[in-house]
Amino acid sequence: MLKDPSSETAGGPRHVAIIMDGNGRWAQARGRPRLFGHHAGARRVREVVEACPELGIEYLTIFAFSTENWKRTQVEVAGLMTLFRRYITKETRALAERGVCVRFIGDRVRLDNKLVALMDTLEEKTRDNARVNLTIALNYGGRDEVARATKRLAQDVAQGKLNPDDVDEETLPRYLDTCVLPDPDLVIRTSGEARISNFLLWQSAYSEYEFIDTLWPDFTADELGHLCRSYGTRDRRFGAVRA
Ligand code: FPP
Repeated sequence: MLKDPSSETAGGPRHVAIIMDGNGRWAQARGRPRLFGHHAGARRVREVVEACPELGIEYLTIFAFSTENWKRTQVEVAGLMTLFRRYITKETRALAERGVCVRFIGDRVRLDNKLVALMDTLEEKTRDNARVNLTIALNYGGRDEVARATKRLAQDVAQGKLNPDDVDEETLPRYLDTCVLPDPDLVIRTSGEARISNFLLWQSAYSEYEFIDTLWPDFTADELGHLCRSYGTRDRRFGAVRA
């Protein structure tokens, strides 16, 4: 059963999560190094964040660097880390002024201190904003997140703060990096690959998915709007049967 897609935002996704894939291929198609594609991809982030309020998106979560991305060449990893530092330094003021509340998810232990300090400052400067909630997944992996959460949960059990009999589906999410976020309604992956690559594994159990061919540096606010309207036509039943 399809819902009426006539309205721009009614029935649209409240939380959109994006796997920003295809930067490397975009650069290679232009005879340029992969990092050129990552820089072009970073410029897309601003346009997409700015489009969110009008589309009724309250939460946007983007996959910037996975726990598996360390396997890339040292040049690419170092270039990406420099890009993240530059992006945060350059964008902090604009994000703060435009009402964006920024959070980071992922394990910070392996990130360099300078980058972590910039991430902390950006979170601190934008914490009272409420126009859009931007979550950046950096050194993030869904399995790693669940493992870290389980460790903390086990520590609480060992210290007598949590009774194992009280552990249910509501308990573990309180230990996840995403504990203050709603689950994503719509997960988008660009670049034609149809896989989730360890992104928001627990949280996306009932998400709708869109795998689109566009390479991330070519992704536009218009395309996001189109995907949001298409989401509005879907019938989400969460395992139940419509009466
Ligand atoms: C995947 O494309 C992309 C990444 C691993 C990095 C994503 C990073 C950005 C978009 C940079 C900006 C982010 C922020 C928050 C400033 P790929 O390199 O795997 O592309 P390919 O599959 O074509 O090789």
